Amino acid sequence: MSQESSSPTSSTSARTAVVTGASSGIGAATVRTLTAAGWTVFALARREAKLNALAAETGCTPIVTDITDEESTQAAVDRILAAGPVKALVNCAGGAIGKDPVATANLDDWRAMYELNVLGTLRITQKLLPALKESSGSVLVISSTAGIEPYEGGAGYCASKFAERVMARVLRLELIGEPVRVIDIAPGMVHTDEFSVKRFHGDAAKAEAVYAGVPDPLKAEDIAECVRWALEQPDTVDVDQIVVRPRAEGSYTKVYRQA
Ligand SMILES: NC(=O)c1ccc[n+]([C@@H]2O[C@H](COP(=O)([O-])OP(=O)(O)OC[C@H]3O[C@@H](n4cnc5c(N)ncnc54)[C@H](OP(=O)(O)O)[C@@H]3O)[C@@H](O)[C@H]2O)c1
Repeated sequence: MSQESSSPTSSTSARTAVVTGASSGIGAATVRTLTAAGWTVFALARREAKLNALAAETGCTPIVTDITDEESTQAAVDRILAAGPVKALVNCAGGAIGKDPVATANLDDWRAMYELNVLGTLRITQKLLPALKESSGSVLVISSTAGIEPYEGGAGYCASKFAERVMARVLRLELIGEPVRVIDIAPGMVHTDEFSVKRFHGDAAKAEAVYAGVPDPLKAEDIAECVRWALEQPDTVDVDQIVVRPRAEGSYTKVYRQA
């Protein structure tokens, strides 16, 4: 089907979304927002108990999935496709590990971030792309402003987020003329429960210091609303990129903090 022959308005007949990284933070908020807006949602992550709790709350379908694992991801995709058309893939699974300078950075941390943020996103996107083309659907990535402006201590995470953004941008170019939208949402500081705790290997004090004194960091719900808005534009309107930060953050290194 050519783009010209697809409906100019967003189809409501197949409003089914797949959300990765759904067990916490931005992904869980996205599941809540999309289900509340009437979407059917498949919620993917590794932690079964958290997914089940979210399913009980929202009516989403939980699928325990490790997107760094080929077999696990294929099994999830097979289950999703057997259930019918898919209109959107929201790539939210991801994260930062460590904040060491390049000189002393841990290669395993960098490898893990690349496996998850880049290759994991690539893996599930490749598998769902044919179905998304059939439904005039959307591939959406939650990248980061870390993929726009690198900062000291952030080289590993920033490199993976630069790569994720490049992947989305090039996919957009490669799909021109085909009925698929590619959307990149790049958040700045979002205060989620787990992101910084994981980054600092469980050190809660270091994690909280990230947000110390910042009047109003973004909330996961703010990003979820960007996702919903972008997905619910007409099929022919591609929201290429959204960069969204708290008002108090001009850049990663220019953040207003109250004393
Ligand atoms: N928080 C921020 O300030 C911020 C800013 C910009 C961009 N982002 C990006 O937004 C996304 C979500 O961040 P967040 O703050 O919501 O962090 P989060 O709460 O730590 O969420 C990360 C999610 O990824 C899932 N995940 C991790 N490894 C996975 C794997 N191998 N397979 C499947 N799922 C996996 C986690 O669930 P399981 O452990 O259950 O698998 C979790 O649901 C990330 O891509 C992050 O880089 C965050």
